[in-house]
Amino acid sequence: MSSENTSTQNQSLKEWVAHWEKIFEPDQTHWCDGSEEEYEKFTKELVDSGTFIRLNDNLRPNSFLARSDPDDVARVESDTYIASTKEIDAGSTNNWREPNALKEEMLTHYQGCMKGRTLYVIPFCMGPLGSTISHIGIQLSDSPYVAASMKIMTRMGIEVLDELGEGDFVPCVHSVGFPLGEGQKDVPWPCNKDVRYISHFPETREIWSYGSGYGGNALLGKKCFALRIASTMARDDGWLAEHMLILGVTPPDGEKRYIAAAFPSACGKTNMAMLVPTIPGWKVETIGDDIAWMKFSSDGQLRAINPEAGFFGVAPGTSKSTNANAMKTLWGNAIFTNVALDENGDVWWERMTVDRPDSLVDWQGRDWNAESGEPAAHPNARFTVPASQCPSIAPEWEDPEGVPISAIMFGGRRASNVPLVTQARNWEHGVFLGSIMSSEKTAAAAGKIGEVRFDPFAMLPFMGYNVGDYIKHWIEIGKVDKSNKLPELFWVNWFRKDENGDFLWPGFGENSRVLKWILDRIDGNTQAIDTPLGLLPEIDGIDTKGLDLDSSAMAKLLEVNSESWSEEIPLIEEHLGSIGERLPVEMTSQLNDLKSRIGLGT
Ligand code: OXD
Ligand code: MN
Repeated sequence: MSSENTSTQNQSLKEWVAHWEKIFEPDQTHWCDGSEEEYEKFTKELVDSGTFIRLNDNLRPNSFLARSDPDDVARVESDTYIASTKEIDAGSTNNWREPNALKEEMLTHYQGCMKGRTLYVIPFCMGPLGSTISHIGIQLSDSPYVAASMKIMTRMGIEVLDELGEGDFVPCVHSVGFPLGEGQKDVPWPCNKDVRYISHFPETREIWSYGSGYGGNALLGKKCFALRIASTMARDDGWLAEHMLILGVTPPDGEKRYIAAAFPSACGKTNMAMLVPTIPGWKVETIGDDIAWMKFSSDGQLRAINPEAGFFGVAPGTSKSTNANAMKTLWGNAIFTNVALDENGDVWWERMTVDRPDSLVDWQGRDWNAESGEPAAHPNARFTVPASQCPSIAPEWEDPEGVPISAIMFGGRRASNVPLVTQARNWEHGVFLGSIMSSEKTAAAAGKIGEVRFDPFAMLPFMGYNVGDYIKHWIEIGKVDKSNKLPELFWVNWFRKDENGDFLWPGFGENSRVLKWILDRIDGNTQAIDTPLGLLPEIDGIDTKGLDLDSSAMAKLLEVNSESWSEEIPLIEEHLGSIGERLPVEMTSQLNDLKSRIGLGT
């Protein structure tokens, strides 16, 4: 085993790497320096080993296609664990394991798991270097796909070691769980189909991942660190680590304001973060598309950073019409995973273009047959691309101070019941609205509730601790210090449908009209109507100039139907009940208040 020299003086880091080298038994160890030359070396090796296909350089320079194992295409929530000492601390929404037993079990798999492979030591910083909001992690991995992706998704390499100095880091270990015997030929996408663990130890702030190479399971800075572990750090230290995009919005001749927004996975966060406003003179700029870390500055202002440096977005459905900025971001320097390949050596995915290319190779490398009914790209096919390439990226997106947050939006995908936009009456009411965020599975018509899945704060798969304690933490944030400037909280829904099952609201760039109402509310420039759900726009409150939307559609978008809400109340009761003994009492009183406002006794 050879461990390349590293410049780090951090003794505990060196000892930690040496400790894992003994367990993993790699052929060699490579300390990542994060340079362009190193990235080139990784991509060349990945092409040589068959993991990457180089795309046509004239069409998509310095870009690659990876095809995963068909059994390793997404996050695996059933194999994702929160290993706190007490089960109650993981809560009803997480898979709990006893930490020592879990570690013992995983060590049997980790022993010798990197034979025939290189161990990459990946120092990474979540957030801009030098920011007091940022945190450093070190990932060990036997996957060059992971090392290359971490270069795009995080600030990675030597500068991070310099910044770390002798300080603490979040230790993250990862193996694809596919050791190579003497002379054994590798496969393009090594993984372990039978044994998979995505384990989090919130009390010791450690991450152990095994068996998968897929982004959400293997790029440990993202969901594992920036959400699950960071949410527990945030609870302990009085800040917020959230599944939220961050955008800046500037009215004509007005002041730029920043808004964060939580939406469940695959509800259009990336599209919203990069939206092109349709109202003349307005500007929207992107800070982040998936995760927000927010801390109070000394003057009591909640300030946010995007802890990531790249976008790991869902490709299918992304097009010039749904997200022109994302399409432009993808001009080059991108890694695509599980998309289709066209005959020119470029990528394609469902709905990328109106006309689909005549001939395609699908995400599994097979000639695609349009008649088969199967998609050419996997529905969870992804792009990985530097955020700096995005035309709408805000010049201050890497400001170490973060950006001041004026409003937070909570959204879901609801065909019924939830109005286009509702302002919370106060912080605690907003926390209640966040706690009952939900999406509907079926395409229900207006007033008819489909199968409702609750996803509090869009954090269901990402809370590193008990959901009841998480809601409590949000309530506490509102109380920390009276001099704190708290953002206003809003509940939004772009997906309401009419009785024929058609969307009432056009969405995408038109959502800028809702952003405008939110800023008007913050500035006290528009009235709101007090309804059982919260504060709603007046019927002409939303600027619909130039939009082909009749007032009956707006009335439906803003409708609060007490009868239909009384059908939803038992679902909310069941959802809040399932949170268990740590549900804050404040949520029960909010529910009782809602019930009495819609005319139901408590
Ligand atoms: C993501 C997710 O990949 O939420 O961002 O699953
Ligand atoms: Mn996400």
